[in-house]
Amino acid sequence: MSAIAILGCMWGDEAKAKIVDYLGDTADYVVRFQGGSNAGHTIVVEGKKYVFHAVPSGIMYPGTKCMIGCGMIIDPLGLVNEIRGLEASGLKFDERLFIDEKVGLVLPLHQELDAVNEERLASAKIGTTGRGIGPAYADMTARTGIRLGDLGHPAYLKQRIKELYDYHGQSLDSKALKEVMAQLDEAWQVLEKYCGSIETILSDAYLSGARIIFEGAQGTLLDRSWGSYPYVTSSNTIVDAVGIGSGFSSRLLDEVLGVFKSYVTRVGEGPFPTEIHGPLADQIRAQGNEFGSTTGRPRRIGHFDAVLGAYSARLNTLDGIALTLLDVLSGLEELKICVGYELNGKVLITPPAHPLELSKVEPQYVTLQGWEEDITGVRSKEALPANAQIYLEAVEDLLEVPVKVVSVGKERDQTFKIDM
Ligand code: IMO
Ligand code: MG
Repeated sequence: MSAIAILGCMWGDEAKAKIVDYLGDTADYVVRFQGGSNAGHTIVVEGKKYVFHAVPSGIMYPGTKCMIGCGMIIDPLGLVNEIRGLEASGLKFDERLFIDEKVGLVLPLHQELDAVNEERLASAKIGTTGRGIGPAYADMTARTGIRLGDLGHPAYLKQRIKELYDYHGQSLDSKALKEVMAQLDEAWQVLEKYCGSIETILSDAYLSGARIIFEGAQGTLLDRSWGSYPYVTSSNTIVDAVGIGSGFSSRLLDEVLGVFKSYVTRVGEGPFPTEIHGPLADQIRAQGNEFGSTTGRPRRIGHFDAVLGAYSARLNTLDGIALTLLDVLSGLEELKICVGYELNGKVLITPPAHPLELSKVEPQYVTLQGWEEDITGVRSKEALPANAQIYLEAVEDLLEVPVKVVSVGKERDQTFKIDM
């Protein structure tokens, strides 16, 4: 038996799903425990691309069961469409998908509120994915949210929906209420068979020897409590969210693997100390195809930041690092790694929590030599160019965590393990 959490450790888009897929061929369960369709998890197998938003990426392996924990929030019709789309590309869901009946729902109201909030904030906007994530989580916290299990109780559901609209100062006439109810019923017709309680299944499976992977979404720097607030998502993303969002206590995890890009990206607004502007950023963006898989937005690009990296490694008690997109750095003459921040004449080795301070820090860099070689065919650490090995070891030393998996391309097999 084993339980491993695979977590994004920066601002999301670290290629978590690729690592889940690479390590997931023998997984009995893959579990999502936070976030919703703001996630855009991409897997490429033999040139064919699969994108997952709410469905755990373990659905790729026919023998793996997939779970949506109650720490997530789901848009019911969006999920139905996602399932239909994946079924059309040949993936099977029957007896394989389990959704916790306690999971909160994202309704069209939440997507509207997300857009209105962003518009109101204008130049101070968060740059959300527009999927209604913040407002839906806010309703769950305010106890005004609707949960998947409510769809099985229409009279109760109708009352809860009226109360929800009331709470937001919106009136819903009987025609509009009927429409909302009809849409939810349409989703329920598809989702009912997947809906139940997952926590006992998971702990029983673990005790009887199952291999379980917890698939994180977003990343530590987008964590609602520990990220670069307020430019964060509305869920907790760090390792402790596993227990809260799935019912499988984080204490039982055997391993925590943190996924880091070999450089840094961020979509949306907010401080980004090592951000690069100009031709170098354009080159990395083009080589790494750094455009959002949920929104298509160009991602901001930066140098590897070992200050934020070490912060994330500590918070998540990482056992290992999966270093991704290393191939993208091929051809760069020099590579910089941020090893400290200077703020008001003082050198910091931990990040300041206040956004006004984090946006003012001066990164202190070490500069390493790059490598020319195309490394997309490399399958061992020893076969990497010497400078790539030095870069990888610098990341290990600065974060004090060993690199256990390296990704050198989009394809499933463009990946290798180190002492794992
Ligand atoms: P995956 O799982 C990258 C960012 C948004 C925005 C902030 C808040 O693919 O790594 P939200 O819609 O969650 O309220 O937006 O969080 N964000 C992500 N950035 N990858 C993601 O997911 C993200 N999910 C949310 O860009 O800055
Ligand atoms: Mg993404």
